Amino acid sequence: MLESKDLKRLDELFFSMQEANACFLGYPFAKGFDYEPLWRFMSLTGNNLGDPFEPGTYRVNSHDFECEVVDFFARLFRAPACEAWGYVTNGGTEGNIYGLYIARELYPDAVVYFSRDTHYSVSKGVRLLGLEHSVVRSQSNGEMDYEDLVQKATRVRNRPAVVVANIGTTMKEGKDDTRKIRAVLRDIGISAIYIHSDAALCGPYAPLLDPKPAFDFADGADSITLSGHKFLGAPMPCGVVLAQKLHVQRIMRTIDYIGSSDMTLSGSRNAYTPIILWYAIRSMGIEGIKRMFDQCEQLAAYTTNELNVRGVSAWRNPNALTVVFPPVEGCIKTKWQIATQDVSHLVVTPGTTKHQTDALIEAITGRKRQAS
Ligand SMILES: Cc1ncc(COP(=O)(O)O)c(C=O)c1O
Repeated sequence: MLESKDLKRLDELFFSMQEANACFLGYPFAKGFDYEPLWRFMSLTGNNLGDPFEPGTYRVNSHDFECEVVDFFARLFRAPACEAWGYVTNGGTEGNIYGLYIARELYPDAVVYFSRDTHYSVSKGVRLLGLEHSVVRSQSNGEMDYEDLVQKATRVRNRPAVVVANIGTTMKEGKDDTRKIRAVLRDIGISAIYIHSDAALCGPYAPLLDPKPAFDFADGADSITLSGHKFLGAPMPCGVVLAQKLHVQRIMRTIDYIGSSDMTLSGSRNAYTPIILWYAIRSMGIEGIKRMFDQCEQLAAYTTNELNVRGVSAWRNPNALTVVFPPVEGCIKTKWQIATQDVSHLVVTPGTTKHQTDALIEAITGRKRQAS
């Protein structure tokens, strides 16, 4: 039993996290989910180590549910039947590093290309894996500058190309086009190409957009990652990575002591996040995901418009939930946890309310009024 001072500290932490959750607009994570029917699992030990698709001696897992989550996204991302493999990760970062790892095993002497707007997990991955890389310029909307890709890749056209395509850049939700990437690289004579799609935020809804961005297996991706906590919603970070089975088999090792294959980055893995993601996709279905996206998109459109009407030059990419505006002041950044580089942004995710975005609009435009 904890002493009362420790109980008090827990209470304080709870209220502080609750308050921070209520004004959290600058980073994508869904709020307002209800996973109460799953709370009972927290009294059990769970560990998903090993290949979820293979039986093993270790049974304290949720592998069956993990496989259903992977199969759901394999279908959504148009993987040919039985040709994709995947697992539930710790988040988008692990998925990016995993994609780069597989790419390196396939093409050890490749050059990795990614745009300047790419998430820092990709630079971390190339550093960890000792990969040579080249940073490509971005267009002003965050999308890769394909002409710059061609210029950079032409200099080393005798080497395979691994490209990390952003399906929603962190700051502007710009989307790279995997079909275009393959085409321009082929045009300069590169045939050994591996494309990893980083769909951390947009993965769950990108396939449902009209026009659909080119990013999935049918569009030439070799591996795809998404974060589970960003759009679908989860109380802890999680994600899914999928890759072509043929590539994954290169990194497979059989581990006698667990009676299964080892194809994942971590050994012990979270058994709860696959159940959470399974619950999310089973309860929402594709229709529910689309409905949630539409609601978020309407609020993002409204917020952009309100900022514009009040003299703030806000904008967003087509079909994006990220509203981009000039950098905000320190106190607004801190209160609303607004991610800021050369621009600031807010991301409308499920659970974001009009009340919250109105309060942020008022904070930004109120400061502007005071300053003028
Ligand atoms: C484009 C992109 N990729 C990868 C990540 C990393 O995802 P995670 O935080 O789930 O590791 C992020 C996080 O914001 C991101 O925006």
